[in-house]
Amino acid sequence: MSNTDNVVLTGIKPTGMPHLGNYIGALKPIIEQSKTHKTFMFIADLHALNTIHDAKQIKQHTYEIAALMIALGLDMNNTVLFRQSDINEIYQLNTMLMNVTPKGLMNRAHSYKAAMDKNIANGEDVDAGVNMGLYTYPILMSADILLYNADIVPVGADQKQHVEFARDIAGYFNHTYGNVFKLPEPVIGKDTGLIPGLDGRKMSKSYDNTIALFAPEKELKKKIMRIITDSRLPEEAKNPDESTIFQLYKHFASESEIADFADMFRRGGLGYGTAKTMLFEKINSVLAEPRAEYERLMANTDELDTILQSGAKMAAMVAEKTMQRVKKAMLG
Ligand code: TRP
Repeated sequence: MSNTDNVVLTGIKPTGMPHLGNYIGALKPIIEQSKTHKTFMFIADLHALNTIHDAKQIKQHTYEIAALMIALGLDMNNTVLFRQSDINEIYQLNTMLMNVTPKGLMNRAHSYKAAMDKNIANGEDVDAGVNMGLYTYPILMSADILLYNADIVPVGADQKQHVEFARDIAGYFNHTYGNVFKLPEPVIGKDTGLIPGLDGRKMSKSYDNTIALFAPEKELKKKIMRIITDSRLPEEAKNPDESTIFQLYKHFASESEIADFADMFRRGGLGYGTAKTMLFEKINSVLAEPRAEYERLMANTDELDTILQSGAKMAAMVAEKTMQRVKKAMLG
């Protein structure tokens, strides 16, 4: 469906260092897509505000995401990389979209409903701890998407509803004011399957079983050595599809390496210690160079500022034009 003329847009919230599961499921596909598509990629610092109230942290995490995407090979020739909050029009469009967004739509947002359900389960007021940033989160996200005329928005399954809301809101707007906005299309990345964490459950911060993407080499090794395995002896045959070690390996190795590794599992004679060492060496060989570049960029945040500022200039050119159309349509 996507072709090279389509504008791809996505945002990443600066809430901390992503883990290997985030990398495999979300970041890697965006980086691949940037090689063939005009891409708007921003760090959604305004979206982090409803949970992080410490400016220093937001700023630091913003640098981390920018450095990380560049280090991993985001194609900077096709990509406009910028900080969401640097574009004045985002605040403006957010205000405008408030007026065509039904309150009932926000009541149905998964993120808000999850917060309400949690409050109810804890016997608290339904809206305890819910600020308007959380409640209107989907409006700001719609503004992100519509401001840059995005055709395609690659997101994880958890964000699909938000992109559908952007489409709905664009539709309400166009219905009232004429054809101002393009209708965006959510694209859910192909299912990477479950990416297991150290304990075999889905890798997730909430299970405390993650491996940080750019963990220093020593920590990476330590974590991998801690992966929980069953008690099969080295000589016993093993099913690779049931092994966390193999499930992680296959996202970093070539087809033939994957086939060889699977064979070693099935044949027997491969101990888990050796398998873990092989996994560590594979992941480390893929990530060593990007990790060094990440560390270099983090030590040179001036360079990141320059990149983000030049991205913001390009993004602003598109944003200004959209906002002119919106103001004219709404205010005359
Ligand atoms: N809400 C997204 C997340 O939490 C981040 C985001 C903000 C985004 N604005 C966006 C993603 C616009 C896609 C398009 O992951």
